[in-house]
Amino acid sequence: MKLFIDTGNLKEVEALAQIGILDGATTNPSLLAKESADPRHILTQICALVNGPVSAEVVATDYAGMVREGRDLAGINEHIVIKVPFTKDGVRACKTLADEGHRVNVTLIFSATQAWLAAKVGAAYVSPFVGRLDDIGTTGMTLIREIVDIFDNAEFPTEVLVASVRSPIHVIEAARMGADVVTAPASVIEQCFKHPLTDIGLERFLKDWEKAQAARV
Ligand code: G3P
Repeated sequence: MKLFIDTGNLKEVEALAQIGILDGATTNPSLLAKESADPRHILTQICALVNGPVSAEVVATDYAGMVREGRDLAGINEHIVIKVPFTKDGVRACKTLADEGHRVNVTLIFSATQAWLAAKVGAAYVSPFVGRLDDIGTTGMTLIREIVDIFDNAEFPTEVLVASVRSPIHVIEAARMGADVVTAPASVIEQCFKHPLTDIGLERFLKDWEKAQAARV
């Protein structure tokens, strides 16, 4: 399973990209709106840092506007994946852009039928939002299992990109269910590194080593 970072913050991307764990990135209008730099500059920089797919979302809501904006975003860098919301216009725009050879990520997916329709028109990725489903008292990860099954049965090449990830549990479940990609905020990726026994174990190794060194002199 590939790991993308879900952010518009260059420092977060830089810190994790240098470790070598990032396969790509996703952004959305809310994430880019938090940053003061020009969104096109941010997207260009993220592409250079992750050297992999970077989703950039259109803000137009009509078909023609989404296609126009999508083409423009794709011109920023070869790594840009055009993100469109799941609406009828978004699905139509996905079909047009995919037919032109662009990679499209259909976002705001909350049901298996939505994912299926997006895959039918050639989406490169679908982004089901698991955390927001959990927020309304349902089990977001159930949707991932359904979509993975449907795409396997239909042999769709569309990748299941698990989004709206809130904890390492979402990451583990996504991997176990056979999702293609998980996109997580930097805070969740940081949590994936942590275990108190690793810290305690390392501290003990170093103390024992120091003790032995001191005894030798
Ligand atoms: O990028 C889309 C998605 O990951 C947003 O997550 O936490 O705002 O529901 P969240």
